[in-house]
Amino acid sequence: MKFFLDSAMTDQISHALEMWDIDGVTTNPRHVQVSGKPFMTVINEIAEIFAGTDKPISVEVNPHLDDWKEMVKEGKKLAAISPNFVVKLPASEAGFKAVYELAADDIKSNLTLVFSPAQALMAMRMGASFVSPFIGWKESNGEEITHFIDEVTMIRNNFGFETEIIVAAARNARQIVNAAVSGADIVTAGMPVFQDALDHPYTDVGLGKFQSFWDETPYE
Ligand code: E4P
Repeated sequence: MKFFLDSAMTDQISHALEMWDIDGVTTNPRHVQVSGKPFMTVINEIAEIFAGTDKPISVEVNPHLDDWKEMVKEGKKLAAISPNFVVKLPASEAGFKAVYELAADDIKSNLTLVFSPAQALMAMRMGASFVSPFIGWKESNGEEITHFIDEVTMIRNNFGFETEIIVAAARNARQIVNAAVSGADIVTAGMPVFQDALDHPYTDVGLGKFQSFWDETPYE
């Protein structure tokens, strides 16, 4: 299963690439705003980090766009900047159509803000390279999420769609594991979520115990 970092912070992205060989990046307007840099500056910096790799970087089109032709125009502009860029579009009627048109031009897309299996199915049949069912937001809203990802994965497998499933807005290690068990291809999460998931208090306790035994044992 692939891990994508959900961030536009170049220091976090460089760290995740060096230490975890992160498989890609997803950005959104919030991440770009948090980076404190202009949109074009930050996406170009991220492209530079991944230059020479085939790792995808999702870059979201202007969320005010509601005309598919405008979405396609902006998507083509973004895709021309870097071969790593994947055009991120909302799961609206215009977004689905824009995905379809971009796919006809071999431009990769990621359907975002997906909250139902029906939306995911539509993204797949319109030729999305990636689909991003959001689990964290649904769970915060009191909705069930494990069956949701199971269904999205089953739909993809039943029909042999080539779309990769990115389980998005994962908030903890259990959700990462559930996504893997469901057969999703990718999970995207912020750096603190991955860092927490890699930690376990027993690892620290065990290491302390082993250090004591080590210190009490002659080396030769
Ligand atoms: C995914 O592609 C989104 O960028 C992301 O998961 C959005 O959710 P969050 O910013 O609330 O984590």
